[in-house]
Amino acid sequence: MAKYPAGKRKKVETPEIVSRSKAEKDPSSYVLRMLLNASPYYVSGSVLAQKLKMSRVGIWSRIDKLRKAGLTIEASQNLGYRLAGEPNQLNLPLLNAWMKENRKVCDVFIHNEVDSTNSEVERLLANNTKTPFAVLSNEQKRGRGRLGRSWHSPKGGNIYLSLGFRPNIQAIRLRNFTLWQGLNICRFLRQFIGTEKIMIKWPNDIYFDGKKLAGMLTEASIDCESIRTLIFGIGINVNIPTQHYPKNLAKHSNSLQNINAEQIRIHELAAKLIKIILLSYKDCVSKNLEEELVNGWTEVDELSGKKIKVKCGKENFQGKASGIDNDGNLLLKLRNGRMKKVHSGEIEVLA
Ligand code: BTN
Repeated sequence: MAKYPAGKRKKVETPEIVSRSKAEKDPSSYVLRMLLNASPYYVSGSVLAQKLKMSRVGIWSRIDKLRKAGLTIEASQNLGYRLAGEPNQLNLPLLNAWMKENRKVCDVFIHNEVDSTNSEVERLLANNTKTPFAVLSNEQKRGRGRLGRSWHSPKGGNIYLSLGFRPNIQAIRLRNFTLWQGLNICRFLRQFIGTEKIMIKWPNDIYFDGKKLAGMLTEASIDCESIRTLIFGIGINVNIPTQHYPKNLAKHSNSLQNINAEQIRIHELAAKLIKIILLSYKDCVSKNLEEELVNGWTEVDELSGKKIKVKCGKENFQGKASGIDNDGNLLLKLRNGRMKKVHSGEIEVLA
């Protein structure tokens, strides 16, 4: 369980953007938003009862419902109720409450188990689901990685998230989409966790302390050079101790909980992450970001100045990683002094 800070008493205001009629239609989610707004403070049972025009027993039964959904809610006779902790399993009311804190931005579908959230988005896009939307799952049975690899996706507190879009714009305009997402997600994670040491290994791996923290996978369907559908998926190791991963992965994996030394509030993280991904998508379709990307990349570049080997089909190249160009290619300074542009490939750090 991820804990909220220890509780205190304080007078709490009603969430501003919830109208009374909405509150009356969905009292449990109203109660939850009150608790979330107030956290780490208590909310008095009589204030809740007054706001919802409900008896205190009625409020108690909503609290009980939220507890049954996995939330830890402390009760004190004098102080009222307080959100003390949240489960590592995804909970739709809690995620919606966090999304509303950031203004609700898109529809979210939560699953206990799927083959792959990217595949689920693909199916929803094929069924004409209104875009943008997000899919989260507690577990993936066939999580996919880049270059045909699999993505280890056990249940119990990691993030497996995919978003679906219909850009309908020239493919070339979105050529830097994954890098731009990576840069913004990396900046967000640095601020969320409180460390500048989170980095990106070109093109789509997020690293901390030389070990992989997260991976991104973008898939698109292109028709006449125009991108019809775009799926952006990200897997983040959050609250599952990486020591429990298969041996070969454990050595090279890190998790946010390892950095933070305590459990992460996964709903807050997921809601904020969705917002960052949506904003980055908007930027990407509406602006020219080359200069900002190339400059920003220098802050997060895990490979910068390192001697690396690039495996590109049957060819191998060695050289010094030297940032990226306007088209998102990795720049590799070869031994003969020439600069090689790498469009895709598997990177091994040599020193
Ligand atoms: C990689 O590092 O190779 C990319 C990993 C991407 C994993 C995420 S988890 C959510 C989404 N669903 C998938 O099947 N893959 C992506």
